[in-house]
Amino acid sequence: MASNILRLEDVNVFRGPAHIIRDFSLEVKEGETVALVGRNGAGKTTLINAIIGILPTANGKIEFKGQNITHLPPHKRAKLGIGYAPDDRKIFTDLTVYENLLIPIRYAKVDEKSALENIFASFPKLRELLSRKGLHLSGGEQKMLAVARALALSPSLILLDEPLEGLAPIAVEAFITSLKTLKMKNVALLIAESNLYYALRLADIIYFIDRGEVTWHGPPNEVPYRSV
Ligand SMILES: Nc1ncnc2c1ncn2[C@@H]1O[C@H](COP(=O)(O)OP(=O)(O)OP(=O)(O)O)[C@@H](O)[C@H]1O
Ligand SMILES: [Mg+2]
Repeated sequence: MASNILRLEDVNVFRGPAHIIRDFSLEVKEGETVALVGRNGAGKTTLINAIIGILPTANGKIEFKGQNITHLPPHKRAKLGIGYAPDDRKIFTDLTVYENLLIPIRYAKVDEKSALENIFASFPKLRELLSRKGLHLSGGEQKMLAVARALALSPSLILLDEPLEGLAPIAVEAFITSLKTLKMKNVALLIAESNLYYALRLADIIYFIDRGEVTWHGPPNEVPYRSV
């Protein structure tokens, strides 16, 4: 059986005085795709920010590959192999796709050619767009670039915050295919998704989150009717 790559135990997160995430426990196994499903304001982004270390964990524990990372700064978590694609894309709009990709590649000091080939294997469209500025990409292409930048560091886990949000149906299909190629490469994914239908198609395990708490978790074929 695959071992846990990420484990959260009773994690609590505050934003100012507001107690947003409450005693949240979750496991992601190696190569597994886990979807975090909840309505707007449920706490998905807050939880992802706590896992990457942008927000502090008040109490509880976060383990990555068996190591306690609860209080590690974000850059150290990234070095350990946690990749992140934010919901607001955060690409550099005046830089080309190539220049956007070079930043994490140089930072990680990895071989440029093999890193790019690795990215194109999942996002073939980016090869054709290398010289285009971020500003002139479609929304879906910008989202692809955001995930591709996370891939440059060869993470074993990628956190994706609503990667499909706002995409046209045809772009969603291409994106789902790309995410599935990552899974075939044994990259674990934790995907925040407000659309249950997409989550059911993508995930091995679904966690429902409501007001910062897990309300149900299990495989897609066992999702209880009342949660839908
Ligand atoms: N900076 C902040 N200060 C105080 N409260 C915040 C802050 N940011 C978010 N919140 C609150 O935390 C709760 C969870 O927000 P969060 O962004 O994590 O939800 P979400 O599940 O990602 O929602 P969405 O689907 O809209 O992205 C919400 O009630 C929100 O109003
Ligand atoms: Mg969010």
